[in-house]
Amino acid sequence: MSGEHERARGGGMPATVIVGLQWGDEGKGKATDFLSEQVRWVVRYQGGDNAGHTIMLGPEVFKLHLVPSGVLYPHIVPLIGPGVVVNPMTLIAELDGLAERGVDTSRVRVSHAAHVIMPYHVAEDRASEARLGGAGIGTTRRGIGPAYADRALRVGLRMEDLLDARALRAKLERLVPDKNARLVRLGSEGAPLAVDALVESALGWGERLRGQIADTTTLVQDALRAGDHVLFEGAQGTLLDLDHGSYPYVTSSNPVAGGACTGGGVGPLQVTAVIGIMKAYTTRVGAGPYPTELTDEIGEGIATRGHEYGTTTGRRRRVGWFDAVPLRYAVDVNSVSSIILNKLDILSGIDSIRLCVAYEIDGRRVERWPASGEEVARAVPIYETFPGWSEEIHTARTPGDLPPNARSYVAALASLAGVPITLVSVGPERTQTVTFDSRPLAAGR
Ligand code: GDP
Ligand code: IMO
Ligand code: MG
Repeated sequence: MSGEHERARGGGMPATVIVGLQWGDEGKGKATDFLSEQVRWVVRYQGGDNAGHTIMLGPEVFKLHLVPSGVLYPHIVPLIGPGVVVNPMTLIAELDGLAERGVDTSRVRVSHAAHVIMPYHVAEDRASEARLGGAGIGTTRRGIGPAYADRALRVGLRMEDLLDARALRAKLERLVPDKNARLVRLGSEGAPLAVDALVESALGWGERLRGQIADTTTLVQDALRAGDHVLFEGAQGTLLDLDHGSYPYVTSSNPVAGGACTGGGVGPLQVTAVIGIMKAYTTRVGAGPYPTELTDEIGEGIATRGHEYGTTTGRRRRVGWFDAVPLRYAVDVNSVSSIILNKLDILSGIDSIRLCVAYEIDGRRVERWPASGEEVARAVPIYETFPGWSEEIHTARTPGDLPPNARSYVAALASLAGVPITLVSVGPERTQTVTFDSRPLAAGR
């Protein structure tokens, strides 16, 4: 094969995208940490500190909001790409917190082009959610939507602006009067923001992060050219995607695999694998349609066993049965090549497990994920039922260690997805993983 063809296939320059296939919290942090052993770079490509990715290493729990989940390995270079919105206060606190726990964060780089979440974005997010009351999105109130809105309006600050006092002051002098007026209109009760104080804080963040602000796109491209394996770590999930989720109950970025191209600096033909992450059931935080939601004691039991409380906000996650209708859609829009299934252990002890294979909407059977959120809201799930298993499965490491009914459930999910399930997670720890395919980064192609 010629070099050019090889290049088109991405041969010799592997880039893998990790993407959530549900509504977020699928266990992307654990999966990224697990796969980081085999790669050199881990890149966050969208979202901000609305994300909460948990990694458990023995007694140690790491909850990461901005720093990529590969950071715990000394051989990984963690990058925060231009598509991420960065609250510098969160980033600094996270870097400091990791350093205090002995994690070397000196290799972390953040794109000069990443937009900055400023205090007025957080205030706008809070005030607009409060104003919407019961009709709110249920955002994480981290200022994500307002920061992305300013980016699109081309009035946002980028990380590079934190290093340039003159440009920073000029931009804030233009922007802050508008922000104060808007906050008053939204009913915000906070004191008006002062330009001087904002400039001083922002320059302080810039000073602290100066050595870590870089052109991450060039770093990614150089790494790929050198043949290094680059892993792109998605935040949120496909069903929260701004364009492909149930708008407006979505986040303000593109968690889908294509987001790695725009937000991470990798070309579509450079991506060699897309690994979808999903849980053995579903959860959702915040408002929006959720056909398989469980409001009974089975849901309560899953939430309790699964510790389904938000990493970022502490909110109790909504819980439901697995839904294969959006799964097929998610496999398609992300071009998923293989899947990692998490939290199978949480289903132990449930007599019969239900799996939604289609919806009934206005008297019709529907197998495709409806384009309209209104239709999703009217969807009544059509379930298949699977016999459960009573044993705990935390110690399973090979498929043969799993009870036959658990294996059948995994096989049914793989068959509905149409792509292989390579790893099945049976506990939060790195080691609590059942290997169905020993080369998860290469599978499915
Ligand atoms: P992310 O946002 O996709 O990274 O997921 P979160 O970290 O927000 O939520 C997943 C939670 O489940 C975390 O607390 C993980 O430690 C935990 N977890 C991940 N995989 C498993 C698993 O297979 N079993 C159990 N019991 N917990 C898991
Ligand atoms: P990770 O990366 C789950 C949800 C919020 C809300 C909607 C919009 O940990 O999977 P936003 O603050 O982004 O404007 O909120 O998106 N949401 C998440 N839900 N996991 C996440 O991230 C989420 N990030 C945002 O609850 O419904
Ligand atoms: Mg999370």
